[in-house]
Amino acid sequence: MGLSRSTKVRDVVEKAPISRDVVNRFVAGTTTSDAVRTARELDGTGRLVTIDFLGEDTLDRAQAIATRDAYLDLLADLADAGLSDGGRVEVSLKLSALGQALPRDGRKISLDYARSVCEAAAIADTTVTLDMEDHTTTDATLETLAALRKDFPQTGAVLQAYLRRTEADCRDLAYAGSRVRLCKGAYAEPSSVAFADKGEVDMNYVKCLRVLMEGEGYPMVASHDPRIIQIAGSLADKNLRAPESFEFQMLYGIRPKEQQRLADAGHRMRVYVPFGDEWYGYLMRRMAERPANTAFFVRALTSRS
Ligand code: FDA
Repeated sequence: MGLSRSTKVRDVVEKAPISRDVVNRFVAGTTTSDAVRTARELDGTGRLVTIDFLGEDTLDRAQAIATRDAYLDLLADLADAGLSDGGRVEVSLKLSALGQALPRDGRKISLDYARSVCEAAAIADTTVTLDMEDHTTTDATLETLAALRKDFPQTGAVLQAYLRRTEADCRDLAYAGSRVRLCKGAYAEPSSVAFADKGEVDMNYVKCLRVLMEGEGYPMVASHDPRIIQIAGSLADKNLRAPESFEFQMLYGIRPKEQQRLADAGHRMRVYVPFGDEWYGYLMRRMAERPANTAFFVRALTSRS
């Protein structure tokens, strides 16, 4: 965590030739045109895309406005490039980057800014998915989701299988038209709210996925785990789901061959593509927050699958 804030270390890491390679593997670049170019490349291979602008958790209103504006510019550029229609390329949003934690009216501010992004997405004929952050923000994020869905019912949610509450949240959100991305969860959480054991997290993922697949919503299976992918396919078959009634999702740079295999097999396969200047903090924090994340990125650098 200390390293993620050190400007000296940041300077060294940003300039080291190896860092560029590592970063390019997981982050599309720093500018909107980098993000659009990467989206175009992935679109050309039959993969769907969701783009995340790497804004920081902010307690500064000006920074929250800059993040909102970055999304508005991105959505306009995606529409101009003909990439957003039908939701082929959509965006993912962290409410903390839109000021959710600002003192006093942070929740209202982040809701207002998220609404502007949803409006721009609707004009571009695409959707927004709200990323899920640490457990102290889950209720606030789900409340914001409910408010946004009144006007933009296609707004997507993210639920984290490591949280004990998530099976119940899946039941609440498994209704027609409800897009729910199910991931394992990436933050360090106390055992009072989250399963600590990897096996328990995996088991809970399957329980939650069963609820989503049996329900009437649109499940988004966000995992690189081969067993989860196989189980998702079986659950979809068992529930007579058509290929367009759910999708797989993976992070940019992780298991690209598997991504392509799923897309070629006729599945909807969406790649989560981060971009922006804040890649250093993003990668360092992802690793610091949860030691397993370091192994996860290192594995991606050495894996051929
Ligand atoms: P996990 O890390 O448990 O790995 C399981 C297995 O997958 C491994 O044992 C291995 O077999 C295989 N595997 C993994 N990486 C591999 C590699 N590089 N090569 C070969 N095999 C590999 N989190 C969060 O808290 N909030 C959020 O909003 C999101 N959003 C999000 C969106 C999308 C699209 C994705 C894919 C993920 C997220 N996440 C997230 C992150 C998520 O919670 C989780 O931390 C990571 O996806 C890692 O968990 P996995 O399910 O992929 O498998």
